[in-house]
Amino acid sequence: MGKIIAVVNQKGGVGKTTTSINLAASLGILKKKTLLVDLDPQGNATTGVGMERGDIKNSIYEVLIKKCEIENSIIKTKSKNLWLIPAYLNLAGVDMELVELEREYREKNEPFSRVNRLKEEISKIKDNYDFIIIDCPPSLGILTTNALAASDSVLIPVQCEYFALEGIMQLINTIMLAQKKVNPNLDIEGVLLTMLTANTNLGLEVIESIRSFFKERVYDTIIPRLIRLAEAPSHGKPILEYEPRSRGTLAYLNLAKEVIERNGTKEESTR
Ligand SMILES: Nc1ncnc2c1ncn2[C@@H]1O[C@H](COP(=O)(O)OP(=O)(O)O)[C@@H](O)[C@H]1O
Ligand SMILES: [Mg+2]
Repeated sequence: MGKIIAVVNQKGGVGKTTTSINLAASLGILKKKTLLVDLDPQGNATTGVGMERGDIKNSIYEVLIKKCEIENSIIKTKSKNLWLIPAYLNLAGVDMELVELEREYREKNEPFSRVNRLKEEISKIKDNYDFIIIDCPPSLGILTTNALAASDSVLIPVQCEYFALEGIMQLINTIMLAQKKVNPNLDIEGVLLTMLTANTNLGLEVIESIRSFFKERVYDTIIPRLIRLAEAPSHGKPILEYEPRSRGTLAYLNLAKEVIERNGTKEESTR
């Protein structure tokens, strides 16, 4: 049964998309069938695995508003064991569309839950994958709520910077609210330190404060700040294809191994 992990932080620029792409690709290389779901209207995870607007017939937007079956939105990427449900800018308007749909269904006396749309759809296909990774937008709106409702757990990237913990309480509150209202089983998968600049005291201080706050939930793997990781998406490749021997590749492979280990499955898929 597929494990569904939402990569969440309402702060922009903390490494959600970079982590979603590279964790998903690394899980794929480690023989896990993985589906990457782009849930950000910016579509950076989509282009980051090499899909252009022209490659996309149906995106997560059409799935959420019931214009297409989820099976028909899934694209095989060039990466091993990695599939994608893409997103592009039209997703930005999904909020209003869902409100409108909810009204239409209510008039017909048919059930419709706009916060559970992603969950309803993903549940149809989740058994086809070992892992489903959802790249969330930098907000706590309807899209992130859908992700929290649909997921087994959340992975929180935290940038190694001075204000790292700023906004974390709001995020924790949102996760607790989601547990109460839409998903009592929602777990914290782990906290990932990202963009560590080598040899700075500041970085070490931040690591310490985040470790004392989140304790053993923090992954041992820390993602270094590397120009190669920032470059890879513009070539439409995960780091392990763009620069297989880079420290970024090693870091995300190590993260994937930790994720696999925490989920108590062997690295070798039984499928
Ligand atoms: N480890 C890293 N080293 C260097 N640049 C990074 C790293 N992680 C992310 N970036 C860059 O920082 C910016 C924000 O990262 P991104 O993953 O898009 O964050 P988010 O999805 O949270 O907004 C992007 O330009 C990305 O290429
Ligand atoms: Mg992003």
